[in-house]
Amino acid sequence: MVGACSRTHVFVIISAHLKDYMSHLFLRSNKALGWTIDMPPKDMNLIILGCMQCMYAASDLAGTMKLQYDIASRIIRMPCTARLDINFILKALQEGADGVLVIGCHPGDCAYKTGNLGAERRVRFARKLVGQLGLNEDRVKMVFVSAAEGDKFAAEINQFADEIREIGPNPIRL
Ligand code: FES
Repeated sequence: MVGACSRTHVFVIISAHLKDYMSHLFLRSNKALGWTIDMPPKDMNLIILGCMQCMYAASDLAGTMKLQYDIASRIIRMPCTARLDINFILKALQEGADGVLVIGCHPGDCAYKTGNLGAERRVRFARKLVGQLGLNEDRVKMVFVSAAEGDKFAAEINQFADEIREIGPNPIRL
């Protein structure tokens, strides 16, 4: 079993490697040196990682209620946010996603008891790593919804989309 210290050590190493790689991409891209482009919504990519129990049911309900949420969002479901790995977030950003939103069940509602709380801790850590890599840490966020909150699901995605539009496009993608 990997202890907390050695796991932190591994992520520090990954972070150092990613930093080198990202610097390389930055240097290679002329556009990255001075982007101020207002990115049209259709060019924005948001990755929504969430659980099947609450997030997916809420998205289904939002569809039934004919609620609209930002077209830039791409939903990826997992059995529980307990499955969330920090590398999923880093990989999404590395591949050019402008933001990653993790959606789990409300505390106390997780089908696997504390999967969502563990995910929340990992998201907090991912935000720190992302900040150290020179990106705005607000590109990564976690929220909670219940299966009955189709309206909250749509509102959270729309709010996140507005926040990411405010921050601007992921410089790695330019
Ligand atoms: Fe939804 Fe665990 S089942 S976060």
